[in-house]
Amino acid sequence: MTTTMQRAEAAEHAMSEELDRIVVKSVLYTSGERDPRVPVPRPPDQGKLYLMGHDPRLPKMPDKPTLFDFFRYRFGPSAHMLQSARLAQKNGLGEKLVLACLLHDIAVAGFIRSDHGYWSAQLLEPYVDEEVSWAIRYHQTLRFFADESVGYKYPETYVKLFGADYQPEPHIQAAYRYARDHKWYMSSRLITVNDLYSFDPNAKVELDEFTDVVGRHFKQPKEGLGFDASPSSHMWRTINWPTRYL
Ligand SMILES: [Fe+2]
Ligand SMILES: [Fe+2]
Repeated sequence: MTTTMQRAEAAEHAMSEELDRIVVKSVLYTSGERDPRVPVPRPPDQGKLYLMGHDPRLPKMPDKPTLFDFFRYRFGPSAHMLQSARLAQKNGLGEKLVLACLLHDIAVAGFIRSDHGYWSAQLLEPYVDEEVSWAIRYHQTLRFFADESVGYKYPETYVKLFGADYQPEPHIQAAYRYARDHKWYMSSRLITVNDLYSFDPNAKVELDEFTDVVGRHFKQPKEGLGFDASPSSHMWRTINWPTRYL
């Protein structure tokens, strides 16, 4: 019997046959689906070269990619972030927090889901106000804790997703205690308040609506994201070229 996994592997193999370069996936992309301790079987390379750069299966990004280019060419559907940003605008939040809402889940959309608040913040840190990245880092933690003062309840969705008896682990509890006493607590809290789970599939929010906000509050590097030697530029480069051999 052919399992879904085997079919996927066969399709992938067929696809990589068509490429003139050999593509090897990083451990992170398959860890869990396979035991990372077991060596990946490699078919003979028949003198083919390994991929170093653009993956032809993906849309090519401009040489100097902007934040919006990543939204357009590398991120998954971003309606959730766009609608959260629009809600923040409707609720009268300042531009910096509208930007925070627009970008709060970029790690989920384009990079790594686990610990997404931290990854999102790290990606953005060199390019936004410190308060924005701080708020994004801690929204992940604050999502697990109610704050009645702003009408934020523990999300019903989390009960459905994680079960009624899920308790945030000690490191999350500790992060919560730290964030709760921080001067920017409310900025991060407001991301959770505007963080829409049950968004309207028919409401269309375009990226262009936020061109000005991003223009004013996101320091787009002139070399392009990934090529500017900032502390997170390698992360943007990896999103651009996720299958580079080294
Ligand atoms: Fe989030
Ligand atoms: Fe979110």
